[in-house]
Amino acid sequence: MDQPAGTRLHPSGRLIPPELDEAMVRAVVESFYAKARRDDVIGPVFNRVIPDEEWPAHLDKITDFWSSMLLGTGRYRGRPMPAHIAIPELADPHFQRWLSLFRMTVEELCPPAVAALFVERAEVIGNNFRLRIAQFRGEDPHQLKLMRAGTRIES
Ligand code: HEM
Repeated sequence: MDQPAGTRLHPSGRLIPPELDEAMVRAVVESFYAKARRDDVIGPVFNRVIPDEEWPAHLDKITDFWSSMLLGTGRYRGRPMPAHIAIPELADPHFQRWLSLFRMTVEELCPPAVAALFVERAEVIGNNFRLRIAQFRGEDPHQLKLMRAGTRIES
């Protein structure tokens, strides 16, 4: 099917918002992880698992991840689930804070349609992680309530 000139399609068939590009993905990743590393809830987890010298490579990997998710570039070939299952202390307060900080970041840096896309995808992935972690730990996954990114938290 023909698409209007200048539009881009994600492999899923959805239109990619015209304002979204690699520079915006990179800016979101850098701003989010700068906040995340300083955060009192999720900072200690990131700073324990990722040594200082590995941060540049980690930011490149996460940029590839979001570029693949939202721009369909296919640059990320990793498996995020095992990386999270391997973090024993990971629990709902971490996911809630991660999603709130992420939402705050994309609302600061992106036009509303792009911010909504980031948030929607992060919520789906975050809830999948929670489900798989609960199964892995032998907890009852039916106890889980769907988590949303929630309201802005002021910095
Ligand atoms: C909620 C949505 C989340 C998304 C979309 C996400 C995404 C990712 C991705 C793509 C990776 C790279 C995995 C790889 O290929 O090595 C990663 C790694 C990591 N994530 Fe998340 N994550 C989320 C939640 C969290 C939370 C809540 C925490 C805890 C504070 C967390 C902590 C980490 C850490 C420490 C790593 C590095 C793991 C390692 O290198 O061993 N993530 N995340």
